Amino acid sequence: MKVTQKIEFDEDVSSICESTGALTEGCRLPVRMHKTEDWPLAEVVSIKDLDGKRQFYVHYVDFNKRLDEWVTEEDVDTRKVQFPRRDGTQTGASTGVTTPKKHHSSLPGSVSRPTSPQPAASNEMVNGNAVLAAALQKKINRKRKLNSVPAPPLAVVPEIPPPIITPAPTPAPIVVIPTTPVPVSVSEEASQDGKNATPRQSGSMVIHQDDVVTRMKNVEMIELGKHRIKPWYFSPYPQELCQMPCIYICEFCLKYRKSRKCLERHLAKCNLRHPPGNEIYRKHTISFFEIDGRKNKVYAQNLCLLAKLFLDHKTLYYDTDPFLFYVMTEFDSRGFHIVGYFSKEKESTEDYNVACILTMPPYQRKGYGKLLIEFSYELSKFEGKTGSPEKPLSDLGLLSYRSYWAQTILEIFISQKPTSDGEKPTITINDICECTSIKKEDVISTLQNLNLINYYKGQYIVCISRDIIDQHKKAMDKRKIRIDSKCLHWTPKDWSKRSKW
Ligand code: ACO
Ligand code: ZN
Repeated sequence: MKVTQKIEFDEDVSSICESTGALTEGCRLPVRMHKTEDWPLAEVVSIKDLDGKRQFYVHYVDFNKRLDEWVTEEDVDTRKVQFPRRDGTQTGASTGVTTPKKHHSSLPGSVSRPTSPQPAASNEMVNGNAVLAAALQKKINRKRKLNSVPAPPLAVVPEIPPPIITPAPTPAPIVVIPTTPVPVSVSEEASQDGKNATPRQSGSMVIHQDDVVTRMKNVEMIELGKHRIKPWYFSPYPQELCQMPCIYICEFCLKYRKSRKCLERHLAKCNLRHPPGNEIYRKHTISFFEIDGRKNKVYAQNLCLLAKLFLDHKTLYYDTDPFLFYVMTEFDSRGFHIVGYFSKEKESTEDYNVACILTMPPYQRKGYGKLLIEFSYELSKFEGKTGSPEKPLSDLGLLSYRSYWAQTILEIFISQKPTSDGEKPTITINDICECTSIKKEDVISTLQNLNLINYYKGQYIVCISRDIIDQHKKAMDKRKIRIDSKCLHWTPKDWSKRSKW
């Protein structure tokens, strides 16, 4: 597998190219983003010829990879090109007359940030207190509706079926093929039957990988139930399907087909109307299903394939045995529709309580992400443990976790009553960890990020201003859907006592 070399750029040496013909993979130049008037600095990842015209797959340097796209010759500004220097050798210093770009004036390093169709927070942008403060501020300002699941009219909601406990199917045979971790082209049958398993190589199902192929989005569109969704990142679906304008996915078993006709044939035979596994939680229309990655290998693999389309910093492995998958669904007359999920290692040496977490894009920014996170901590509470999400977190993952941690911890402080003798309440970090199952490091970093810790008369105290309390109350009012622990029917298993998951 081709792995991208670390490339050095000489910031001072930029060249004027006569035409786009001189552009090579790896060079950087201003590019018009999504046909807007913004021209941020971008790196050319790949080049192709289409009807005699060059097209460039570009990555916008200060932006998340989900904004990467194919652009045409008209969208690149060849007036200031930085060529990559490999091993200290500078390349491509051509000069000449350029076609001036009408709308562009920005230079590398002084790019303006567009209002992008997808959130454009780079890792640099979401790290640090400034961003957290801004996020808190946004909570007050934001007028959007959070968490409101419109209640379906009673007439169309059939009687809610009893909780689903599916008998465990016979485990699929485990075929371990020690090959390259990410099969770029696997046969549809092999993959969907769970026979293309590759060995798990680390404590996590995922590790980072960055080569030219996996840096580029390879799936144009997916159709999942009633949703058409544009993928954000690469996912190793079979190559022949990736050439199609759309991959059609059964929203219940997650098998994929190359055309709607093929999917219809599948749907005629597919009896599932909910994820496999046991329904361990239900309140109103929201359910959670627990799926064992060993017992439901094909489903788990297909879920990982689907999730990878929206998860960048994780690379997919086919060995799902060591994981449990918690799929959140919303129920209507047609069945239990997947809203999001998280995976969790059966045994984590690092106290991770979430490996990967995803809200399907049509459901994002409605509070479901926090509901998934809340559920993951509810499981940890049942286990009597603290937990933390697997690192690294994505930009959106970090925003969501920070917001969840801040709200959960503030909730505890604010609910503290003064002692009977009128003294201020005392609570330790360990108490907070115990009530919330949030790991100590995350509690401390949250308090620091919120700037709540003060040193006063020889001791650390937490001071919460009236403003913070008001902001917090407003934010909590928006969290309409919450996990109700009474609706969780689950007993944790001690996986260490089982010889083989
Ligand atoms: N831009 C800015 N803020 C955002 C965005 C966004 N696009 N999306 C979520 N947020 C903020 C919200 O404003 C909210 O904070 P607030 O309540 O303080 O305003 C917080 O994040 C959570 O919002 P939710 O609506 O509850 O979360 P959502 O359903 O959108 O799911 C998630 C969040 C799961 C991270 C989703 O964005 C996603 O699936 N992303 C793609 C996959 C991913 O990155 N997963 C995390 C990887 S890390 C890991 O797996 C351990
Ligand atoms: Zn199906």
